[in-house]
Amino acid sequence: MSDYLWFEGIPFPTEEYKKETIEESRDKFVIRDEDTAIVTYPKSGSHWLIEIVCLIQTKGDPTWIQSVPIWDRVPWIETQNGYKILISKEGPRLFSSHLPFHLFPKSFFSSKAKVIYLIRNPRDVLVSGYFFWSKMKFVKNPESLRTYFEWFLKGNVAYGSWFEHTRAWLSMRERDNFLLLSYEDMKKDEKSTIKKICDFLGKKLEPDELDMVLKYSSFQAMKENKMSNLSLIPENLASNDLVLLRKGTTGDWKNHFTVAQAEAFDKVFQEKMAGFPPGLFPWE
Ligand code: A3P
Repeated sequence: MSDYLWFEGIPFPTEEYKKETIEESRDKFVIRDEDTAIVTYPKSGSHWLIEIVCLIQTKGDPTWIQSVPIWDRVPWIETQNGYKILISKEGPRLFSSHLPFHLFPKSFFSSKAKVIYLIRNPRDVLVSGYFFWSKMKFVKNPESLRTYFEWFLKGNVAYGSWFEHTRAWLSMRERDNFLLLSYEDMKKDEKSTIKKICDFLGKKLEPDELDMVLKYSSFQAMKENKMSNLSLIPENLASNDLVLLRKGTTGDWKNHFTVAQAEAFDKVFQEKMAGFPPGLFPWE
C-alpha cells in the first residue's frame, strides 16, 4: 500500500517515477521528426498496441518481442529507466507514454513526430484498472471496486482523470501526425487496424507478414510471452498474482457495475465528454 507521487495535480506511481524526470521530459526532451510515440490512458490496451507496432517493425518476426522486455523495447518516457534509454538513443525512437497532454514533451507540438493515441471504453478501463492496480505495490490500492469507482470518477487514480486525458488528447485528432485508434475496433477487426497503423507509419507488410503480426500479438501469444506479460516485474513492485492479460474482452464492465453505478457513470460521461461528434466513441 502506497500513495502517489503528485506532480502538477496528477497522481503518479511512486516507484520508477520522479518529479525531476517528468519535468525534464516535458521541458527538455527534444523530439525528433522521425520519432513515434504510443500514447494511452492506462488499461486501454497499451501493451497490445506496443506489441503490434514492434511486430510491424520486424515484419512479423517474433525474435525481438520474445527476447527483450517490453519496457526496454518501447520505453516509457516518464519513467526513470525509460527516459535514460531514450535520451541516449540515436536515430528514430519509438516510445510509450501515459502522460496527459499538458505534461507531454513540449517539443512534440512543433515537430512532425507521430503519435498513435489508443482509447477504450472508460468503463472497461475502470474495471481493468481496478484489478491491475490492486496488485501493484507503488500506487494507492483500492479495497473494493466501489471505492475505485469513486476515485476514477474524480480522477484520483494513477495518471489522473480519464475524461481530461482523453478530451485533451482528442484535440489533436485532425492533425496528420496523429492517429486515433480504439480497443473496440482492434477487437472487432485487428487486421484493418494493423493496416491503418502501417499506412500511418509508412510501412508495408506482405500478407504472410501481416498474418505473423496477428499471430504473435494475439491474446494467447502475449499471455505466454514473458517479455510482454509483465511477469518479469520485480517482486517488490507487484504481487506475484498480477495479471496483465486478464480477460481481453469488451464490455466486461457489465459484469461488475451495479445499475446505479452504470447510471452514475453515464451521467458523468455525458457531462464531461459533451461536444464530441456522434460516432467518435465506438462503444457509445
Ligand atoms: P482486461 O483487464 O480488460 O483484460 P494496458 O496494456 O493498457 O495496461 O491494458 C491492459 C488491457 O489490455 C487488459 O484488459 C488486457 O487483457 C488487454 N490486452 C492486452 N493484450 C491484449 C491482446 N493481445 N488482445 C486483447 N486484449 C489485450
